[in-house]
This record gives sequence, C-alpha cells and structure tokens, in this order.
Amino acid sequence: MKTKQHRIENEQKGIMGHMQITRRGFLKVAGTATLVALGGGQLLSIPEVQAGKPIPTTRYPLYIPPTVSPNSLTLTETPTTEYIGGRTSSVWSYNSSFPGPTIIASNGDTATINLVNGLSQETITHWHGMIVDGLNDGHPKYAIPSGGTKSYNFTINQRAALNWYHPHTHMLTNEQVAMGLAGAFIIRDNVENGLGLPSGNYEVPLVVRDASFDAAGNMTYRSGGGDIPMVNGTLSPYLNVDTARYRFRVLSGAQNRIFGLALGNGASFTLIGNDGGLLETSVPITRMDLAPAERADIIIDFGGYPVGTNIMLKDLRTGWDLLEFKVTRSVTDTGTTPTALSTITKLSNPVNTRTFNFEGMSKINGKVYDLNRIDFQVPFGVTELWRFTTKGAAPHPVHIHGASFQIQSRTGGRGQLFPWESGWKDTVLLEDSETVEILISFDKFRSEGGDGKGLYLIHCHRLEHEDKGMMSNFEVV
Ligand code: C2O
Ligand code: CU
Ligand code: CU
Repeated sequence: MKTKQHRIENEQKGIMGHMQITRRGFLKVAGTATLVALGGGQLLSIPEVQAGKPIPTTRYPLYIPPTVSPNSLTLTETPTTEYIGGRTSSVWSYNSSFPGPTIIASNGDTATINLVNGLSQETITHWHGMIVDGLNDGHPKYAIPSGGTKSYNFTINQRAALNWYHPHTHMLTNEQVAMGLAGAFIIRDNVENGLGLPSGNYEVPLVVRDASFDAAGNMTYRSGGGDIPMVNGTLSPYLNVDTARYRFRVLSGAQNRIFGLALGNGASFTLIGNDGGLLETSVPITRMDLAPAERADIIIDFGGYPVGTNIMLKDLRTGWDLLEFKVTRSVTDTGTTPTALSTITKLSNPVNTRTFNFEGMSKINGKVYDLNRIDFQVPFGVTELWRFTTKGAAPHPVHIHGASFQIQSRTGGRGQLFPWESGWKDTVLLEDSETVEILISFDKFRSEGGDGKGLYLIHCHRLEHEDKGMMSNFEVV
C-alpha cells in the first residue's frame, strides 16, 4: 500500500511540531439498515448512513501542503493515493499532494513551470487570479493529451494576493477539480511585508471545499458537488493553535457550493484581504460568504482564550463543522493588526458598458461556449463598466481572466455590497435576480498581429455551469 510519505509525516509530526497524533483508525459504518414500506408493499432498504460517505468519528490534524517556488517547478497531475479520514483514498493531485503544493513567490519573480499530464484524459492548468498573457493563462484550447507536457513562462507582476491553480480543461474542469486538482499560489510584495502580519507557522492556507466518496472511500466525481466538507484535503480537521493571532489564507475550491464562514462561538475576526490582495483597511466581521473561487485573508486572534478552548470554524449555510481550532499553547503575541493596509487606486469614468446575462446553467447572452469563437473584443488600457444579470439557475460566481476588477454596485437580490467585496476582485457572486456592476481595465496584455496574448475568458465559476458552456472567449486588443 503506497501512501503519501509527506502527508503521513505531517500527520505524525503535527503541523506546529507539538502535536502527537496518528491518523490511523478505521471507518465506522453504522451497520443497521432500516426497512421502509413503500406504496406497493415493496420494501426498500435504506442504510442509516449513505453508503460510501465517510463517517468522521475522529478529528484529524489539518494537512498543510509543502511550499514550492514557481521557478523551475514541475507540476504533475496524476492519480495518487492519499490517507484521508483514516483510510486510503484515490484522488487526483498535483505532485502527489492534495491539495497541490502551495506555490509562493514575490512580485517581480519569474515563473517557469512545466506541467506534466499524468492523467488518462487531456488537461490544462490555469493560474486563477494571476495576470499573465493569454498563452500562459491555461486557456482550454491549449490542453495537453495524456502523457503530454506544457511549459509556462511568465513574470509575476501584480500585488500580493492569494491566488490559486486548477485545471481548466474543456468540459472536464469540474471533474478534474472535484477529484482533487487545486493548489494555492501566494504572491508577496513589499507593502504586505511591511505590515508585520502573522507569518511562518502563524500563516496557514485553508483550501475549503466539499467532496464525495464512493463506498470504498475513494474520491468520486459528482457534477453537482459533494456532501462532505474538507479543508486542505483533510476530513474533520483540527489545528492546534497558540494564544496568538493567525493569518488564514482561505480559498474556496468548491465545485458549486457557497460557504457562510463564521466561528462557532460567534466571535469576530478581522478581514484583511480578498481575491486581489489586501483591502484598503481591515474590517472586523462575524461571518462572510465565500463562493467558489473566492478568497478571504483573515486574522483570527486566539489571544483571549485559555489553553484547552476549542473553537469551530463553521459553514453557517449547512451547519457543517469545517475546522476545529484547539488552543494548546500559551504564548505572548505583542503584535497588532494594522487598520490601514494598502492603497487601492479607484477605477472611474468607464468609456464603454457591456452587459452579460447568465442564463440557465449553460449560457451567457444566449450562447453556449465555443472553444474557438471569440465573442467580443475589449480595447486595451481603458476602463469599462461590465454589468452582470441572471436569468435562472443562480447563484453564478462570475470570474474574469486577465484583470482584477472593482465592484461598484449590486441591485436586486441581496441589494448591497459586503466588506469582502471591496478592493480588487476577480470573482463576484451573483445571486438570483441580482444585477452587479463592476469596473475593469485590461492594461497588462493584448493581442497583436494574432499572437493570442490577449485571449481571456469570462465564465461562471460554478464548475457545473462552466463545463456546460457558461463561458465566453474575449480578446484584449
Ligand atoms: Cu478559476 Cu477560469 O478559473
Ligand atoms: Cu481565472
Ligand atoms: Cu452559473
């Protein structure tokens, strides 16, 4: 039986070096079944617990993926065996880590990444939130076959942020992400470095998602999403924490689900950033929504709690327990989280307006995605107002490649903007009957002489909708 050595080591060592845990244990399935009489006198056996759904009777230490530099990095997408919830489980992962290794780079660094396709189907990887040219963006038309490779080469030229990477394969994105292919891509810069935010063991990436497992405990794909939460590929995770502030870099890798994040004791936490990096000022909040592909940069202060306190990170929408923080060690944290975080230059005076109607599960403005059709052209370097509306099957988390944007307004539906929607964004949640307006300017890359450097996508990041065709190609010219 082959398992991931680093994961096991991580589990045995514990994240902070002071946990003595083994995740070994066996799945306990409720053995009894209930017989239910149906209309025609038929008997249907309904197991008390849905077959295949792992029962988290134990909590497991949160897995922290290894960190890597994007310089001379090889990323291999491959089926692997992970040790999940006390048993082995086959998943698809990057470099045999689920989630994939956390890529960390600084603004100005060069990324030279070699993607290797170890799956039995085509794939391509996209750097979500990274502003790179259209040839390096992981457009589905550049998918590589099983056994193929692709090299990416780009310079990182953007503010500090938590971005991420995941497959963007034509009509296969949902399956490939659901099976485990996703990882965090963190960018640092001098502004962030000057703030003295919690770092080292006090900065923790949290990739939150839902998942499905088959009866044998293997990860399985369901287009509508999963029925059990995972954080960093760990079922029922816990994290031992000190009495100090922690910076959590939260990323939703869910297929379709929206999380409502809050602490089980109702305590407030501090929101400092989102998709496009640090906000202008920090904001205390007690809950936040996180749609697929959205990110949250939050500070949780465990300083006021006695050792022995357990605090749950919850999803208020399902009531799920996502991650338990166990306060296990007393330390003195003399730092404070600054209120003023960064400068956000406001976009203004749009020269053009475009409207995108997200219709049903598969269309934007009446069209299903066509890999080779370019639906519109956007002039380089000007500010435009883009308006998003819905016609059925919402929510739609709308995502744009090639630039970050600033949300201006939401009318209808929830009728307001939330603190986590200020600053720079690349994904915005559109609930039923909402109209959202954003300002956007593509000022980094454009196509010239048909070189394709300005080819980008706008799509719904509900992966089921994306795969069904709720996506559009456009070109910055
Ligand atoms: Cu996260 Cu077009 O993708
Ligand atoms: Cu993207
Ligand atoms: Cu959608």
